[in-house]
Amino acid sequence: MSSIEVAIPKQGFVVAIDGPAGTGKSSVTRRLADVLGFTHIDTGALYRALAYLLARQHVDFEAHPEEAVKLARSVHLEFKRQPEKNPANRIFADGKDVTEHIRTPEVSMKASRVSSIPGVRAALLGLQRRLGCVGRAILEGRDIGTVVFPDADAKFFLTASVDERAKRRLAELEAAGKDAPSFEEVKHQIAARDQADSTRATAPLKKAEDAVEVDTSEMTLDEVVSSMEASIRARIGLQLRGKKK
Ligand code: DC
Repeated sequence: MSSIEVAIPKQGFVVAIDGPAGTGKSSVTRRLADVLGFTHIDTGALYRALAYLLARQHVDFEAHPEEAVKLARSVHLEFKRQPEKNPANRIFADGKDVTEHIRTPEVSMKASRVSSIPGVRAALLGLQRRLGCVGRAILEGRDIGTVVFPDADAKFFLTASVDERAKRRLAELEAAGKDAPSFEEVKHQIAARDQADSTRATAPLKKAEDAVEVDTSEMTLDEVVSSMEASIRARIGLQLRGKKK
């Protein structure tokens, strides 16, 4: 990825939503994109797709990080909306739909590890910026407000207690009819990924200074979405009024 590609200026209105796993980021971002008519970009899916491909090719990227960087630079990752499918937002790697393979606990942990390789982050940075420059976009991830779009028009940082996040994850697994691990095991997985994501040297998970922190522990999805929607609409209004002057 060349530095020229990385230097794309932001256009339109960009919303950045960051936070650790299990805080409701994906559900909130999907709903907000629908109600606001924004393009939803799930940046975690990019790291997940990469981790899945590396595992499928039996690449030991901890021993050979350069292999992960090579793949990140060469693979063609894209999102396509297919409303007849669930989820409708699909991710394709070199033309193949990999959506169904990227949500396993193994891929989650590998995605977290592959995302700590600086060359991998650099390779995916330009892509995320290009995807976000579509006009009105809402991006979810770990470093959107700090690194990918530090000049985003609205920034949020979602949090929730580890207990609450583990409860939600177990409910999701049960609803999907999957074998659920114990509550303690899920809590352990969440805490391990938090630790890895927030202590890595490059673009660690952290709240941007100007991000609005939303603790979703005691809030319903509807409550979170409506408070964030109101805040984004207010900012869009301010931007429009600014332009009229
Ligand atoms: O949001 P998620 O759980 O699908 O993300 C999977 C992993 O990818 C996460 O553990 C950290 C990494 N990630 C990242 O480093 N930066 C992002 N912008 C998005 C995800």
